[in-house]
Amino acid sequence: MTSQGPRDEIERLRHEIRRHDHFYYVVDNPRISDGEYDALLSRLKILEAAHPDLITPDSPTRRVGGKPSIAFAPVAHKIPMLSLDNAYSEAEFLDWDKRVRSSLKGAPYELVVEPKIDGLSCSIEYERGVFARASTRGDGETGEDVSLNVRTIRAVPLKLNMEEPPAFFEARGEVYIDKKDFESIRGEQLNQGAEPFANPRNAAAGSLRQKDPAVTAKRKLKFFAHSYGYFEGMSEPETHLEYLEYCGKAGFPVPLISKKPCKDASEVLKLYKEYASKRFMLPYEIDGLVVKVNAHSSKKLLGFTSKSPRWAIAFKYPAQQATTTVKNVWFSVGRTGVITPVADLEPVKCGGVTISSSTLHNFDEIKRLGLKAGDKVVIERAGEVIPKVIKVVAYSRTGHERDILPPIHCPSCGSNVFKDEEVVAYRCLNPSCPSQIQRSLLHFASRDAMNIDGLGEASVEQLTAKKLVAKFSDIYRLKKEDLLALELFKDKKAANLLAQIEASKKQPLSRLVYALGIPHIGEKSARVLAEHFKNMNALMRAGLEDLSRVSDIGPVIAKAIIDFFSEKHVRALAHELENLGVSMTEPEKAKGSKLAGKSFVFTGELRAMSRAEAELQVRELGGKEATSVSSKTSYVVAGENPGSKHDKAKKLGVTILSEEEFLKLIGR
Ligand code: IVH
Repeated sequence: MTSQGPRDEIERLRHEIRRHDHFYYVVDNPRISDGEYDALLSRLKILEAAHPDLITPDSPTRRVGGKPSIAFAPVAHKIPMLSLDNAYSEAEFLDWDKRVRSSLKGAPYELVVEPKIDGLSCSIEYERGVFARASTRGDGETGEDVSLNVRTIRAVPLKLNMEEPPAFFEARGEVYIDKKDFESIRGEQLNQGAEPFANPRNAAAGSLRQKDPAVTAKRKLKFFAHSYGYFEGMSEPETHLEYLEYCGKAGFPVPLISKKPCKDASEVLKLYKEYASKRFMLPYEIDGLVVKVNAHSSKKLLGFTSKSPRWAIAFKYPAQQATTTVKNVWFSVGRTGVITPVADLEPVKCGGVTISSSTLHNFDEIKRLGLKAGDKVVIERAGEVIPKVIKVVAYSRTGHERDILPPIHCPSCGSNVFKDEEVVAYRCLNPSCPSQIQRSLLHFASRDAMNIDGLGEASVEQLTAKKLVAKFSDIYRLKKEDLLALELFKDKKAANLLAQIEASKKQPLSRLVYALGIPHIGEKSARVLAEHFKNMNALMRAGLEDLSRVSDIGPVIAKAIIDFFSEKHVRALAHELENLGVSMTEPEKAKGSKLAGKSFVFTGELRAMSRAEAELQVRELGGKEATSVSSKTSYVVAGENPGSKHDKAKKLGVTILSEEEFLKLIGR
């Protein structure tokens, strides 16, 4: 006897999964994240395992994918195109590894590791070496004929590169799009007011299922081969690596994570950890690694389940997308008075961390998203950066959502808010606005500016609330008693902060210029100005003509500098800082020193100092920093998790330094 409870839940889950299959596979417009979809499916699997009498042949657990779209001619796959099973954690991967090893009972066990590129599965058939047809996976049994579009993908050979091609060969792989090409398509769509693709997978799918191949051709789709289907007139490759080598020779890209197979699970885990951050530097998006048993004989022993091969697993990284609710939208006032809307989110796990707020950038972005407070939204963490809201799940609206209107008064000081047409921003123009003052102080003290460690958000909040600091110069007037009167400071912490403040007085002019927060002046322009004018007085006195002689300083920046220093209170501030002992000069560059003529490229994270500090050190010793590696580069400094620059340096034979070696070289 089966109770009514599970029967209802199973029916509800099946209905929900079918709906989302349709959005994902047919409409190319998913409404929930992959993680949430997988959670629905795994709940259904658990219920069906506990109540086998409720299993029906049409359950989503009994088939591979979704329904094929009717827009393209159907293609019956000669061999079903299966999917992969997933492991979402180290423990799940180790379980799979254990299962495989015990089933193999000592048969050859080596693992090949590939990227799991977020794209669209595609079969490409060749008759006597000539491109004959390409189809999507569809529901695994029947796909869609997308030959005309796939022919436009440059990575797909129209003729196999071999003397005696087999009578029939079906390469299977992934059609995908690089991150930068995705961004440019999105940019175009936004310009044209069209609904933009939500992610590279949707962009690849949408571009492949275009009616006009000319449009597909412009989309810069890519392809890599990862498996095979039906073949005739060739012998089955003995290992997966041998197959990939065959594909490589035939003319297909095959991006392997490691050219050598892994001997055991621990080697795979090492690669998985390495790529947890390295993947963000790859040109394409991956959501995990695919681990495959290498030997064909072992693959045969393992076989398939109804849905996926037992000899492969997708070892996923935590989802970078999640759905949640915008509880409220509040307005943050930046150091230049620009008002930024920020969404307060129902806390949700995304990419392995809990997210509870997200910047909405500006009101144009809110309009573009069609966002209201109370909406259900999809958020995404691109790389390791802060999350952003990428779309509204409009179908789950209840009617209680609230419009988000720009504020009329500054939320910090109550002054009237003005619309800045030039930069689509709303702005508070009150120079004494507490929020602007706090943000300016934080910028002044930040690592790449005056580098006053210990002057963070909490300290600045207390110091300004107690009116101990209202402008930059007040920082240098702080006494120990002032700090000890605040909740946040005990003896040691107060002494540390004062020492940091004292040390910051010696920072070069370039950092001070950056720290002042002059509109349009970033770190680089500040450095150029400081190196040119050498001292603050000369910079303050500079007119348009003087500034036009400085390389990289155009008329807009020049005007911003003149306007800034023509303010009486700015000039007074500079004098106060000077009287308080803050350095107003740029040290002479160490000419002819030991790094003269040497160029450096940095990749990966440094532990001992920030990238900006390392570059400063190089410059101070007469060297140069560059952004890309060429055969002329003297050194590539590789920190933790180095990116593609490291590989390029290896290829070109450029000397690679570890962080320790670099520190030694600069005498630290
Ligand atoms: S092998 C029989 N290798 O992921 C197994 N698939 O979630 C054939 N995918 O349908 C797939 N990268 O579209 C394989 N290196 C890779 C892959 C990969 C991405 C896709 C493929 C598959 C889906 C399963």
